[in-house]
Amino acid sequence: MTDPTPTVRDHALALSCAELPAYVYDVAALRQHAAAVREALPERVELYYAAKANPEPEILTALGPYVDGYEVASGGELAHVAAAMPGRPLAFGGPGKTPDEVAAALEHGVERFHVESEHELCVLAELARRHAPGRRVAVLPRVNLPVAEGALAGSSLAMGGRPAPFGMDPDRAREVVRALAEGVYAHLELRGVHAHLASGLEAAGQLAVAESVVAWATGLGVPLAEVNVGGGMTVDYAHPERRFDWAAYGGGLAGLTEAHPGLTVRIEPGRALTAYCGWYVTEVLDVKRSHGEEFAVVRGGTHHLRTPATKGHDQPCSVLRVEAWPHPWPRPAAEGGRITLSGQLCTPKDLLARGVPAPGLRAGDRVAFSLAGAYAWNISHHDFLMHPRPGFHFLGAESA
Ligand SMILES: Cc1ncc(COP(=O)(O)O)c(C=O)c1O
Repeated sequence: MTDPTPTVRDHALALSCAELPAYVYDVAALRQHAAAVREALPERVELYYAAKANPEPEILTALGPYVDGYEVASGGELAHVAAAMPGRPLAFGGPGKTPDEVAAALEHGVERFHVESEHELCVLAELARRHAPGRRVAVLPRVNLPVAEGALAGSSLAMGGRPAPFGMDPDRAREVVRALAEGVYAHLELRGVHAHLASGLEAAGQLAVAESVVAWATGLGVPLAEVNVGGGMTVDYAHPERRFDWAAYGGGLAGLTEAHPGLTVRIEPGRALTAYCGWYVTEVLDVKRSHGEEFAVVRGGTHHLRTPATKGHDQPCSVLRVEAWPHPWPRPAAEGGRITLSGQLCTPKDLLARGVPAPGLRAGDRVAFSLAGAYAWNISHHDFLMHPRPGFHFLGAESA
């Protein structure tokens, strides 16, 4: 799904120019996609949504029936998700948790702590004694595991198996696991192991990573109830019609859980759940030639949709032609077959998509950038140049 869904297309064309740019989400399509992902996963696999991908309350709510909980990676996300989804299980991960964040998470009663370092374990142990005296807090040490040579080769963002600020080296993680299992920390309970080694892997690569993590964890010789193998399922921006093969991944995970009865496997994807449900819709303001190339300048830019700038790709998009031209001045139009779509920022990095096949593209035509439902608005530098913020439209959202 790269062309806007009919609902999104109609909405995108009905908005006035003053209402552009706008993020338009097809929440019904999101629910359908999440249901299909859930359906592809075996029973003993828990699905947590990594809220960092898109924490809009309407998105969190739409995913509610299909996920077992939410992964949060800061005190801010924790407070936000807890308020938006009261009573739902939360796992608190991420490096550099401050004592205040840890204390707030304990007071909130977070279900799982993903412990990133030995120092963080000491902080948590002491704060659990103070803030959660009557219970044992469930922890999963995060391990930075080397995986088989080449297994992360297809990954767009490898975080594991190399020097990184995330998690612990296997020998240190092993020591932490042992100390927890021996009851060194009276207020902490070893629940399992966590790893998130890469983003952007296909199903086979993800499965290989999951198998390595489970093999390492179950080889520790300590009873573990859970292994969280992370997120990172690929979204292919160059081939937006291709989807992560959830059926193959789910089938592989079924084999893994069958081989380890009693073990719960948890995954925590973000991007591959929500990327497809969002479009950034805008209009062409100007069309011009520069040194032999054609550019269309659109309203908005990478300060709203930073994804192509951070990942270095061309954001997939569709042109929605608009016949009306209400102005007395001439309407600029592209002469060639391919055009670069740039934004309103005063930087050559404000490129949304290059070489877009859009013969005859005119000022006033609209463009819908797809795959804009994850790591899009929430990772963008909104205030640069002080342009107005986009509108937000959640079509088919229960609360809308
Ligand atoms: C610990 C952890 N879990 C899950 C995710 C979600 O990854 P993705 O959105 O690629 O699925 C991330 C992303 O950085 C992460 O750091």
